[in-house]
Amino acid sequence: MGSTNRYLLEEARSGSDEGLVAVADVQSAGRGRLSRTWESPPGTSLLMSVLLRPGLPPGRLHLAMAAMALAGAQACLDVAGVSPGIKWPNDLVLGPGEGKLAGVLAEVDGSAVVVGLGLNVDWPITSLPPGAACLGPVDREALLEAVLAHLALLHGDWSLVVAEYRRRCVTVGQVVRVELATETFTGMASAVSDDGHLLVARHDRPDRVQAVAVADVVHLRPDLPN
Ligand code: BTN
Repeated sequence: MGSTNRYLLEEARSGSDEGLVAVADVQSAGRGRLSRTWESPPGTSLLMSVLLRPGLPPGRLHLAMAAMALAGAQACLDVAGVSPGIKWPNDLVLGPGEGKLAGVLAEVDGSAVVVGLGLNVDWPITSLPPGAACLGPVDREALLEAVLAHLALLHGDWSLVVAEYRRRCVTVGQVVRVELATETFTGMASAVSDDGHLLVARHDRPDRVQAVAVADVVHLRPDLPN
């Protein structure tokens, strides 16, 4: 398969119903955020997408993505006993300064939203990309089933998604570097707004809290203990 997201977008265009799932062992044209590619060797990852028709207004579509990230995190807990945090916007990470375990990509076509999850499961340690982490040798089928079960519970219960996302988001409270297409700045991530934007108190403009919609964010120091 080229890309599970792309496959389901084509299905959505031909009128397929909500709930269709695509899973691949390997993708020849896996897609990541910000027009990047997403590559993984055969047998190493859970690569899946789900076609949703969530009926959310455009300003709330981030909730479909958040639901997939949360479902992925819960599935890791159920199946592997590890509880990832969510690094804004939707990366699963094992700790604020640690590697990326999974990423989520949502693509929209009319009323359809395809949410894709790429979760690193069992990579040869030497071929893991820099900055990535993996779960270890767990059953990918069990992970898939757990993701789908949690997604079904979360989908539509958007106030639960908001609450759970805020609970799991490890970016809030961090000093971050925000890399926009046009500029890079640092600041304190203070909250995630209702429209899913990261609110950052800029170091270079103390009077200014900037709402960040689309960016790469780097955590600059580990979380402080509670
Ligand atoms: C990211 O850049 O962090 C998001 C990566 C999302 C990758 C997954 S793998 C399954 C699905 N199909 C794709 O082509 N992309 C997503």
